[in-house]
Amino acid sequence: MRRRTLLKIISGCLGSICAAIVGLPGISFVFEALRKNGASGELTRRVARLKDLPVGKAVAVPIIGARQDAWTVHPDEVLGRVWLVRQNTEAKEGDQPKSEIFAFSATCPHLGCAVQHDAKENRFLCPCHRAIFGLDGERITAKKGDQQNPSPRAMDLLSSRLVTDEATQEVWVEVTYQKFEQGLTKKVLKA
Ligand code: FES
Repeated sequence: MRRRTLLKIISGCLGSICAAIVGLPGISFVFEALRKNGASGELTRRVARLKDLPVGKAVAVPIIGARQDAWTVHPDEVLGRVWLVRQNTEAKEGDQPKSEIFAFSATCPHLGCAVQHDAKENRFLCPCHRAIFGLDGERITAKKGDQQNPSPRAMDLLSSRLVTDEATQEVWVEVTYQKFEQGLTKKVLKA
C-alpha cells in the first residue's frame, strides 16, 4: 500500500471518530426527548374548581403541560384529557371540604381513541368501536343482539384530591394524570 493511501485511510478514520464524539450528545438528546414523550407522562394539575362541577354530570378538562420534541419545548400544550364526575354535594369534614370525585383518563382502554360523553344517555361512549361506560367508568355490557363492548377493561381511574387555594380559599380538584397501555385487561402504566 502506498504511503499516501495509508495516510488517507488513517485521516478518514480519525475524522469519523471525531464526528462520532461531537455527534453523540446530540443523538442522545434526541433519544432522551423521544423517551420522555413515550413515557407514562405523570403530571399533577389543578383542573377545575369544585363549585363548577355539577353532581352526577361528566365534565371534560384538559391537562396542560410542556411537550418536548427533538429540538423544541412547547410550554402550554394539551397533553391529555380527563373526565371528572362529581359524586355528591359538598360536605365538610372538619375544616376540609369533602366531596368524592371520579377522574377518568379520556383515552379509551381499547385502542386509544378519545372517549366522549353521551349526553342523551348520560354515560361515556367511545366513537371508534362503540365501547360504552357508565359514569362510574365501568364497562356497560351490550344488550343481546348488540355489538359486544370491545374495551378490555373499565375506563382508567386517575388519582385525584381536593385542595384549598391558600390565596382565594377556593376548593380545587387536583388530578395526577398518567397514561396506560391499551388493549390489556389490567391497567398497566405506559413504559
Ligand atoms: S378505541 Fe375505543 S372502542 Fe376502540
